[in-house]
Amino acid sequence: MRIKLPRGLELRRARPGDAAGVGALVAQLGHATDGRGFAETFTQVIRHPEAAVFVVAEGVRVVAYLAVSHRPQIHLGGRVATIDELVVDATYRRRGLGAFLLDHALELARGLACVRIEAATARASDDDARAFYAAQGFVEADAVRLRQP
Ligand SMILES: CC(C)(COP(=O)(O)OP(=O)(O)OC[C@H]1O[C@@H](n2cnc3c(N)ncnc32)[C@H](O)[C@@H]1OP(=O)(O)O)[C@@H](O)C(=O)NCCC(=O)NCCS
Repeated sequence: MRIKLPRGLELRRARPGDAAGVGALVAQLGHATDGRGFAETFTQVIRHPEAAVFVVAEGVRVVAYLAVSHRPQIHLGGRVATIDELVVDATYRRRGLGAFLLDHALELARGLACVRIEAATARASDDDARAFYAAQGFVEADAVRLRQP
């Protein structure tokens, strides 16, 4: 069943003018967003042919955003979609906005015939996100993410 958005809020694709609003949400997670690179990267992502950014706005204020990307993978014989970023303003949580945004990303991924849909979050520090994804039917994968320091 389709999730409904609370009254007064609208969902739309992100546009370049949303950089500051999305930046404020990114800053809530403790990331720096004041460099020139942030706005440039934001614009690249929203224009990228294999990515999509959705925002939930209340008037001119962006209160949540989700970034999803997708790419073909040889070993899967198909396309994988990744929820790269999902942030709901701290004062708007537990109203269904995260689930609403995720629902739209899943619809996009299914429309692209993605054979896998995944999300990544920190192992120890992010109980909220893990509980959220578990509530949306995601299961933890038997995989380890490696990164160059
Ligand atoms: C994780 C996050 C996106 C959830 O957004 P949200 O809008 O609050 O989530 P929803 O209201 O759609 O929650 C849907 C369901 O998920 C579960 N859930 C969500 N947050 C939860 C939490 N903190 N603890 C336990 N369960 C939770 C619940 O089952 C909830 O349904 P309920 O409220 O009826 O019980 C939000 O907490 C957030 O932005 N956190 C910081 C950023 C982050 O961790 N992003 C995800 C990693 S990319």
